[in-house]
Amino acid sequence: MEIIIQKTAEEGSAVGGRIVAKLIQHKPTAVLGLATGSTPLKLYREMIKWHKEQGLDFSQVTTFNLDEYVGLSADHYASYSRFMNENLFDELNVPTQNIHIPNGLPENLAEHCAAYEREMVDAGGLDLQVLGIGSDGHLGFNEPTSSFASRTRIKTLDQQTVEDNQRFFKEGEEVPRHVITMGLGTIMEARTCLLFAFGEGKADAVAEMVEGSVSAMMPASVLQFHRDARIILDEAAASKLKKADYYKWVYSNKPEWQQY
Ligand code: F6R
Repeated sequence: MEIIIQKTAEEGSAVGGRIVAKLIQHKPTAVLGLATGSTPLKLYREMIKWHKEQGLDFSQVTTFNLDEYVGLSADHYASYSRFMNENLFDELNVPTQNIHIPNGLPENLAEHCAAYEREMVDAGGLDLQVLGIGSDGHLGFNEPTSSFASRTRIKTLDQQTVEDNQRFFKEGEEVPRHVITMGLGTIMEARTCLLFAFGEGKADAVAEMVEGSVSAMMPASVLQFHRDARIILDEAAASKLKKADYYKWVYSNKPEWQQY
């Protein structure tokens, strides 16, 4: 794991933006795995900036989102489809046919999940997967005790996650209990995993993910087995890491060719 600690979420997201830009410059047909939630919003602003100000071209890029609520149509205000359009795709030139987000209202759920997996393989696999982390350590919507070998499937959200995500829903409207999510096994096949965590509320989960035991009780700890997992944190999210000074030392001594 590479732990990148920046003073603020803005600075961390700028590093992330450079990593994504470098990948697309090097491989214009890159396949990106994307996440929703509050965390990647600043990264998405950076990507839009790269596109509008530096001419970064997304016309050959393909994307796959991690997850979607079961029962919400693509145009529901809280659907991840809508979220992605409003926060990223409306501002970029990714062709619509290259954008993949699980369908929250599939005719046959199991078949839809299997087809989603096949589409990722057909696209050449994920070059880079953007990730956030839940306060209970979930990745995508792989809640504690999810199998490390799991693939795209339906999951029931933990009550904590339902509470955490209530803020995205109007008062009186319930967060769906079920989601379609890529599995931990799916995520682990991405060539690079780029996880962002910002704020004190993520500090415990981050410390367990990076420095704790690998356990299905902390799904994100599976990234300890990933050969290229980069964890971008602000100071608050890094505040419970025992070896924070070491990670900063490593980052500030990166050889020039390895810098972002
Ligand atoms: C979203 C996702 C989730 C979030 C996580 C953190 O697509 O897969 O794992 O990344 O719940 O959410 P935020 O960023 O809102 O704290």
